[in-house]
Amino acid sequence: MPTQATKETPTSNLALDLVRVTEAAALSSARWLGRGDKEQGDQAAVDAMRLSFASLNINGTIIIGEGEKDEAPMLYNGERVGTGNGHALDIAVDPVEGTNLLAFGRPNAISVVGAAPAGAMFNPGPSFYMQKLVVPAAAQNVVDLDAPVDDTLKKVAKSLGKDVDDLVVFVLDKPRHQKLIQTIRQVGARIQLHTDGDVSGALMAVDPRSEVDVMIGTGGTPEGVLAACAIKGMGGQIFARLDPQSYVEKEALVNAGIDIRSTLTVNDLVKTDEVFFAATGISGGTFLPGVKYTGLGAVTSSIIIRAKTGTIRYVESHLNWDKLMKISAVDYD
Ligand code: FBP
Repeated sequence: MPTQATKETPTSNLALDLVRVTEAAALSSARWLGRGDKEQGDQAAVDAMRLSFASLNINGTIIIGEGEKDEAPMLYNGERVGTGNGHALDIAVDPVEGTNLLAFGRPNAISVVGAAPAGAMFNPGPSFYMQKLVVPAAAQNVVDLDAPVDDTLKKVAKSLGKDVDDLVVFVLDKPRHQKLIQTIRQVGARIQLHTDGDVSGALMAVDPRSEVDVMIGTGGTPEGVLAACAIKGMGGQIFARLDPQSYVEKEALVNAGIDIRSTLTVNDLVKTDEVFFAATGISGGTFLPGVKYTGLGAVTSSIIIRAKTGTIRYVESHLNWDKLMKISAVDYD
């Protein structure tokens, strides 16, 4: 029986606006694909994203951005974005998630934005790294971060109705994961090793359309919060724990009184269902197709998520340079 539509007036879906921000960043930065210059690629994305934010009727503060103000002149943590009208929002951005993926033309560089009411997002503070285990909804009640990896994989496989050698595990290809990779191989699961890009990895783990079943390993803390914004709407779970990779990072966390022992889940990383997420493919790959320039314009591919309703949209945008130029000319007259 078809579901009865609610008679309430529909509320707006901010993610439909946010996607224009990630599209703009992807369109600009994709020009740097494979050109070996990650700074220029990132800068192109930052400039476009910042300009695009200016058109949004939001009162946003960047919680997760390009870093502290002195090191990042634009989209820095604490920067205000949007027109200043509307509710106060926490904003998480990664104009290019996977700057090296873009610079070397490898798959899964994406542009990402998350938004939630002010105070809802976990603030990484001085934390750079986080241990993560991301599983689809079917496995979320049978795993935990402290269990041995081989047990975890067996449980994930069972809950998905698979054998362990059917599983695909996404792991960042880093020296710190040598032992982890060995364990996964010993238990018989298959592995996708990626040099970067664990936001894509996390989202592929919870996306039934993807061949990835689980993501394990340590990656960026900001990337963990961004992934949580999407997982809130996609379903599944992220189990995480701050995992400082240097003495300096650990000391900064201890001095700031930040607990590094607790396991954080998606509800700790984003404390509300009122969260919106958009991502656009830059380099193309197993997560989202990349930017295709057609000569007359370009085609972008994005995912748009609203957690409260669980709505997930895959959007392909076709842009026509001629028409866009005319619109800009009128806009700036
Ligand atoms: P950048 O976009 O900042 O280059 O980050 C890419 C990334 O691979 C993330 O996906 C991941 O969370 C983090 O870096 C891992 O950090 P590191 O490369 O220092 O291990």
